Amino acid sequence: MLKLGFLVVLAFMGYWIDHNICVEGFGVNWGTMATHMLQPKIVVQMLKDNGINKVKLFDADKATMNALAGTDIEVMVAIPNDQLLTMTDYDQAKDWVRRNVTRYNFKNGVNIKYVAVGNEPFLTAYNNSFVNLTFPALRNIQNALNEAGVGDSIKATVPLNADVYFSPESNPVPSAGRFRTDIAELMTQIVEFMSKNQAPFTVNIYPFLSLYANEHFPMDFAFFDGTPNPVLDNGVEYTNVFDANFDTLYSALKAVGYGNMAILVGEVGWPTDGDKNANLNNAYRFYKGLFAKLASNRGRLFLSIF
Ligand SMILES: *[C@@H]1O[C@H](CO)[C@@H](O)[C@H](O)[C@H]1NC(C)=O
Ligand SMILES: *[C@@H]1O[C@H](CO)[C@@H](O)[C@H](O)[C@H]1NC(C)=O
Ligand SMILES: *[C@@H]1O[C@H](CO)[C@@H](O)[C@H](O)[C@H]1NC(C)=O
Repeated sequence: MLKLGFLVVLAFMGYWIDHNICVEGFGVNWGTMATHMLQPKIVVQMLKDNGINKVKLFDADKATMNALAGTDIEVMVAIPNDQLLTMTDYDQAKDWVRRNVTRYNFKNGVNIKYVAVGNEPFLTAYNNSFVNLTFPALRNIQNALNEAGVGDSIKATVPLNADVYFSPESNPVPSAGRFRTDIAELMTQIVEFMSKNQAPFTVNIYPFLSLYANEHFPMDFAFFDGTPNPVLDNGVEYTNVFDANFDTLYSALKAVGYGNMAILVGEVGWPTDGDKNANLNNAYRFYKGLFAKLASNRGRLFLSIF
């Protein structure tokens, strides 16, 4: 959701492992839609200075990749939505993998871990433009990675917006989570393919957007400080929308038979400008709560820091 004015959004990768609790780390998204672009080598130095060893990109820009080469920073490279159509051709997908992945696969090259195929391609705002392209593109890219001999360590995934799943109005609890009706079959095929290739499910979760979309949304529920009115779901108390949202996805995956799939949170964060709720105080409150949550190792998330 770059349009909300994020410069750099903190990202957390999460893996679901039933009842296991472990925090592995965190990383950042490095976007290039910015008014004041920093030189790639300065960004890489900032990552190193702050001990951040995972980064998610929105392309595979040469200058960016060259700056990352020789570091051990784990990288997610990306194929933008406007290239998904091209990637439905297997030869083009192989060519993309050659030019943007395997060429960096040498000693002191780039430590690529994931290829993001599209970015939130099923947002309803896209009017189904990418609905028929995303799965063929994903399949071609993973198959090309496999054919190039790097598929064991580099996984293709699709960063999806949280509106690919929902819980019904009649029973709005996380345990009732299901994939969106119009794409349910497609989501099932995608999940099945990613699971077969041991790729994680990637989701972007923005509690901020819940407030943005609905002025009656309970403010407390967007943060991590607790709320007098938790959501009760079969004996589980939800006090923040992040957990509720994540578990809604878990239920949707479980409902199609993939409850044990790894889940990675590709983006989460709070903007500091551009809306009445976007300010330093709220951003501070959000990140403070999120970091405390990570540090406490609580919840059913296995958070790998990106
Ligand atoms: C992939 O690599 C080619 C060749 O360097 C480059 O032209 C292209 O922009 C790269 N793709 C992306 C998405 O950055
Ligand atoms: C989607 O459709 C609406 C209404 O027809 C239109 O206003 C909008 O520009 C379309 N968006 C895209 C991304 O095509
Ligand atoms: C996607 O493909 C299906 C089946 O071929 C077709 O019915 C549908 O119209 C397509 N959707 C779009 C948006 O192109």
